[in-house]
Amino acid sequence: MLPRCAAPVCHVLLLVLCLSAAEDFDWTKNDRSSSFYYGTFPTGFSWGAGSSAYQTEGAWDKDGKGLSIWDVFSHKKGRVLRNDTGDSSGEGYYKVKDDVSLMNELKLNHYRFSISWPRIIPTGIKSDHINEKGIKYYNELIDHLLENKITPIVTLYHWDLPQVLQEKYGGWQNVSIVNHFNDFASLCFEKFGNRVKYWITFNNPWSVAVEGYETGEHAPGLKMRGTGAYRTAHNIIKAHAKVWHTYDTQWRGRQKGLVGISLSGEWGEPVDINNQKDIEAAERYVQFYLGWFATPIFHGDYPQVMKDYIGRKSTQQGLGSSRLPSFSSQEKSYIKGTCDFLGIGHFTTRYITQKNYPASRGGASFFTDRDLAELVDPRWPDPGSEWLYSVPWGFRRLLNFVKAQYGNPMLYVTENGVSEKMQCTELCDDWRIKYYRDYINELLKAIKDGVNVRGYTAWSLLDKFEWDEGYSERFGLYYVDFRSKNKPRYPKASVQYYKRIISSNGFPNQREVETWKRRATETCSSSNQLLAADPLTSHMEMVTEIVVPTVCTLCILLSAVFLMFLLRRRN
Ligand code: NOJ
Repeated sequence: MLPRCAAPVCHVLLLVLCLSAAEDFDWTKNDRSSSFYYGTFPTGFSWGAGSSAYQTEGAWDKDGKGLSIWDVFSHKKGRVLRNDTGDSSGEGYYKVKDDVSLMNELKLNHYRFSISWPRIIPTGIKSDHINEKGIKYYNELIDHLLENKITPIVTLYHWDLPQVLQEKYGGWQNVSIVNHFNDFASLCFEKFGNRVKYWITFNNPWSVAVEGYETGEHAPGLKMRGTGAYRTAHNIIKAHAKVWHTYDTQWRGRQKGLVGISLSGEWGEPVDINNQKDIEAAERYVQFYLGWFATPIFHGDYPQVMKDYIGRKSTQQGLGSSRLPSFSSQEKSYIKGTCDFLGIGHFTTRYITQKNYPASRGGASFFTDRDLAELVDPRWPDPGSEWLYSVPWGFRRLLNFVKAQYGNPMLYVTENGVSEKMQCTELCDDWRIKYYRDYINELLKAIKDGVNVRGYTAWSLLDKFEWDEGYSERFGLYYVDFRSKNKPRYPKASVQYYKRIISSNGFPNQREVETWKRRATETCSSSNQLLAADPLTSHMEMVTEIVVPTVCTLCILLSAVFLMFLLRRRN
C-alpha cells in the first residue's frame, strides 16, 4: 500500500498541488493511454492468485500459535479502522479444501500464500519451541495444492513478526533478528522444501519499514521518523541475503528451488516530461521505493541518489553521519546477486514533481528526504482504496525500468489488483474487470518489449483483512461474507473474466474478448441473489445452532422437573 503521504499536512499539499498543477499542466498532452494489444502470453506462463497468513487465516490463538505484532496491534483500540482484527478473518485456516476448489474453478497454475512465523515458532526463537500443529497445517495446504496441480509460491515474511521478538529485541530495528529469521527460514526449507520450489523471503519490505517503523500506521506502530525505516530496511536486506545464502549452500543441491524477494513498486511519471528536475524527481521516487531494496540485491549497495540525498540532509541537520546506514565492502559482495527471481507487487502510479524540503533538525523523515511531491490526475478511476488509482500504462513502464536497471532478471508479478469500498454488496465488479483487463494487457506489452516475466498473481483470491483499513477494502476475486459465522465465499464477476484470460493464456482476438465481459456480468447477478439471501441463511444458522439446542435443553429440564413432581406426589 502507498503511504497516505505521511501526515495530513501532506494531503492538503497534494490537493493544493493538484489544483495549481491542473492550471499549468495539460493532462491531455501527457495522455499515456494507448490501444489494446491482442495476443497471447508465452507458453508455460503461470497464472495465479495470492493471499497472506494474517490477512486470511484467522485462528489467531488456535492450536498453539504464538502472538504476532499484528495480533497485538489490532487488539489496541484505534489502530485499525472500526477496530477490526484478523482474529477470524475468512477462517482460511479451516477452509483449505474449499479454497483450493475455488482455485481449481479458476484453473490457477500457482497460489501465493505466506507462512505465519508465530504459528510454527510461537516465540519466533527456534530453540524455544516448534509448534507441530502449525507445521501440519502448512503441510496439508501444500499437499492439497500439489494434488490439484497448483504450484505453491511461499512467502516467509508477510508482516506478522512474532511479538516476542518485537518486545525482546525491538523487532527489525535490531540486527539480532537476522539469525532468528534465518532459523525460521531453515525450518521451512527443512519441513516444506521437498515440495515448495519458489520461496519469497519478504513481501513488500518498503511497507514494513515505512509504515511499521516510520509512520506507525502498521504494526508494530512505531514512529521513528527519519531513522526507523532506514534501519529496518538495512536489517531486512541483510536477513534476505543470509536466507538466500543458506538456501544456496545447504538446500539448493537437494531441493532445486529458487529464492527471491517480492518488492512493491509503484511507478512515478514526471509531471513535465521536458523538465529535467521533474524527470530526476520521478526517478528518485522509484529509487526510494523499489530501488531501495532492489539495488543492493542486484548491485550490492543502495541507489546513489539515496546516499546523496539522505547524506546531504543529515549533514545539514548537523548529524555526524548519514541516517542511511552503510554496508561494509564484505556485506556488499555478500548481498549482491542474492535473487533467483524478483517478485513485483504493483497497483498504481503517481505524477511526480520536484519539491524542496529544507532540512531541519527535528523534522527529518523518509518522505521529506526525497524532495518531491506526488500528484494524481483527477480523471484516473479510483474505485476503492484512496491511494489506488487505475493507471495501467504505469505498469509497463515500471517493468521496463526493472529490465533496464537490473539486467532483465526473471520476474513474477506477485501482486496486482484493485479494491472496492462499497458499503452495499456488489458482485458485478465491472471496474475490477476493466482494471485486470488493462493491467494484464500492459503486462503482455511489456513481455513483447522483452521483459522477462514468468507469471502473474492476481491480488487477491479472497476478500480479507486489509491491514489498518480492516475489512472496509475488498480486494478479492471472491467475496467473503464476514458477517456470517461460516464466512461463505461468492464469486464476483471478475472471477469469470480472469478465468477466461487464463484459459486463453491472454487476449486471443477482439471478437472473443469483447464477449467476455458481457458473459461475466450475466453470471454475477445470480450470485448476487444468493448473497442477498444470506442474511436469511445466517438467521437460519442461528436458529439451528443456538435457539434449537437452547429450547431442547429447556424442554428436557422442564420434563425432568415435572417428572420429579409427579413421582413425589405419588409417594
Ligand atoms: C500490498 C500488501 O502486500 C498486501 O498485503 C495488501 O493487501 C496490498 N498491498 C493492498 O494494499
